[in-house]
Amino acid sequence: MRLVQTAAEVVRETGAWRKDGERIVLVPTMGWFHEGHLALMRLAKSLGSRTIVSLFVNPIQFGPREDLAAYPRDLDRDRRMAEDEGVDILFAPAVEEMFEPQFQTRVSLGAISQGLCGADRPGHFDGVATIVTKLFHLTSPDVAVFGEKDLQQLALIRRMVRDLNFNIEIVGHPIIREPDGLAMSSRNSYLNEAERRTALCLSQAIGRARETVRQSGNAVPVESLIADAVDFIAAHAGCQVDYVSIVDRWSLAPSTAIDRDSVMALAVKINGRVRLIDNGLLLPEAGR
Ligand code: PAJ
Repeated sequence: MRLVQTAAEVVRETGAWRKDGERIVLVPTMGWFHEGHLALMRLAKSLGSRTIVSLFVNPIQFGPREDLAAYPRDLDRDRRMAEDEGVDILFAPAVEEMFEPQFQTRVSLGAISQGLCGADRPGHFDGVATIVTKLFHLTSPDVAVFGEKDLQQLALIRRMVRDLNFNIEIVGHPIIREPDGLAMSSRNSYLNEAERRTALCLSQAIGRARETVRQSGNAVPVESLIADAVDFIAAHAGCQVDYVSIVDRWSLAPSTAIDRDSVMALAVKINGRVRLIDNGLLLPEAGR
């Protein structure tokens, strides 16, 4: 595996791949790899002939009160893990390499970026869309892989690719969870033992909603599913509900009735400190 740290070199390397007819698959990340990231890398390898993973803690997607400085980083560890997965290039540029001091352009989406996490994190998704656009231009992939863990991010990237005519296939990967159900996240490393146990209420709230839908033959009102999940989470000490919504997994429009694309999406702050997200379909997926 090659570690590449400059924009010029990544353009050169991926350009040579293109010329050779390779099928390039990109996995954008911010590092501090866990099984979720590794699963994306494995899927990427199965989808093409060259795999490139970007590792960049993107300052323009963090708000002023967010955890940019504290975000966990360990390039040596991540490098070994990516190498073990058979990744061809790990692209890990410095901030100065990606943003000139005069940088002033943003890729900005409409309504799809404003609800859910966008409501609590103004500017966040513009920062995501902008860095992903830059990564697409720098690495010219045929395919890019994103996790369903970040439901809104995935929906927004799909929208952006259509809106701006990127000739890139976007592939989603199901959420990878700990054995007890907690969705894996780099931010889980901020949790102490007690908080780690409390954090289970996110996936449990979704499981409860799914069970209610199963028992009531999906005639159950959306509002009552949401109210039940809010109450369940709020009953856990130190948990503050940021939002609980039921939306269409593709458009993110609020569901009025439960169908095969209805997803419960939620964000919870643990002890006012660690913000966690999770989501899940409310009806079983066909074939699963
Ligand atoms: P990061 O949080 O590092 O996540 C990188 C990719 O891994 C994203 O597509 C995310 O959805 C996926 N991922 C994280 N946890 C996962 C899990 N438990 N199961 C499945 N996939 C998971 O998302 C970002 O970085 C950034 O916003 C980025 C897209 C790189 C732009 O800066």
